[in-house]
Amino acid sequence: MARVKPIYLDNAATSHPKPESVYLAVMAALRDGGSPGRGTHHFARTADRLIFETREALAELFSGGDSAQFIFTANATSAINQALFGLLQSGDRVVTTMVEHNAVIRPLRQLQSRGVEVVKVAVDPVTGIVNKSALQQACLDKPTRLLLVNHCSNVIGTIQPVEGLGRWCHEHDILFMLDGAQSAGLLPIDLQTLAVDLFAAPGHKGLLGPQGTGFLYLKEGLKLTPLIYGGTGTNSHSDLQPENLPERLESGTLNLPGLAGLKASLQFLQQTGIDQIHLKETRFIAKLLNGLQKIEGIKIYGSGNVMLRLGAISFNLEDRDPAEVAYILDDEERISVRVGLHCAPDAHRIIGTYPTGTIRISPGYFTTEEEIERFLTVMGKISKMKRKK
Ligand code: ALA
Repeated sequence: MARVKPIYLDNAATSHPKPESVYLAVMAALRDGGSPGRGTHHFARTADRLIFETREALAELFSGGDSAQFIFTANATSAINQALFGLLQSGDRVVTTMVEHNAVIRPLRQLQSRGVEVVKVAVDPVTGIVNKSALQQACLDKPTRLLLVNHCSNVIGTIQPVEGLGRWCHEHDILFMLDGAQSAGLLPIDLQTLAVDLFAAPGHKGLLGPQGTGFLYLKEGLKLTPLIYGGTGTNSHSDLQPENLPERLESGTLNLPGLAGLKASLQFLQQTGIDQIHLKETRFIAKLLNGLQKIEGIKIYGSGNVMLRLGAISFNLEDRDPAEVAYILDDEERISVRVGLHCAPDAHRIIGTYPTGTIRISPGYFTTEEEIERFLTVMGKISKMKRKK
C-alpha cells in the first residue's frame, strides 16, 4: 500500500516548508557569498550588502527604527542570553511570568546564582494569561531592572496582553523585554508602539527563514556587555571591542546563507502581509480546536478564544501516554507533532501536565485545510482504538 503524504504540524518548533525563495537564496549565498564586512573585494561587498538588507528588512517589519539596533544571533536562545547576561548584574531584580521557556528559565536560574533576584508571576491555570496588575505590582514591590514577558506560549499558545506594559515600565524606570520566539512573523509587532527595550526572536519559526538565524533588538541608547569578543571587520587595529552596533555584539563571521534565506523569507512575509498570515493561522486554530473538541476523551489546554492565542495547541487523550499517541501519529500516519514538555516545564506545572507533558500541534502558513481534516480524522480513529480495549 502506498504510504500517505506526510503532514507537518510542528511549526512551533521550526517552520516547514519554507517559501521556495528561501531555498534559492540560501543556495545562491552559498555559491556566491564572501565574508560580510571582511575585505573590499566584490564577494565581501556583496555579502555585506545582503546582510545590511536583511537587517533593514527586520527593522521595517518590526518598526524598529535604525537597523543597526538589530543584532544577528544563531537563534532566539542566544539572543536572550546576550540580553540577560549583557544587562543584569548582582543586585538587579527581574520580574517575569510562570509560562516562560527554558531559554529564559535557565539563564535566569544561572543569574540567580550570581546574585540576581528573579520573581515569577503566576498566570491563569486555564488560559495561561498573566494578570497585568499582578505583573505591575510585582515590579513595584522592590526596585526592578527588567520586566521580561513571553509574548506567546510555545505550549498553549497564550498571547500575553503586553500592550501598554512598555510605557508603564518606562514611567517606573524599568526595562521591558519581550521574548518573541512564538509570535514573530505571526502577529503584527510594532516595537516602537509597544515601547520594547529588548526583543528576541528566531528567524526559523514564524519568520519562515533558515535554522541558525535569530536576532536581538535593543533600543537605541541601551548598552549591553558582549557575551562574545573577537573580530568584527572594523577597528582591527584595536584590541578593544568596538563600541558601536551592530559590530559590538556580532563578533565572528556571520551566517551568510542563513541570513540570505531570512532576507527572502522577510520579503515573503511583507508581500503576504502579517495580518493575512495571522488570519489564516486563526482559521486553522479554530478548525483544530473545534474538531478536537468533538473527539471523545480529548482534553485541550489553553484558551478556547482564538483571538487570545496562537497556533501551539496542546492536548492529551484520556488515559493515554502522549508519547504513545505521538508515536502512532508519526509511525502509522506520518503526521509530525511534538510531544513532552516542549522545553517549558513551568507551563506544564501550571496546566497540570507535568512531567509527561502534552501532544502539541502547530500548523503553519503552508498547512492546508485538507491536512487539518486528515489529522482530525486520524485523531478520531486513535481515540476509538483506545475505547475498544
Ligand atoms: N522552542 C521550540 C518548541 O517549542 C523548539 O518546540
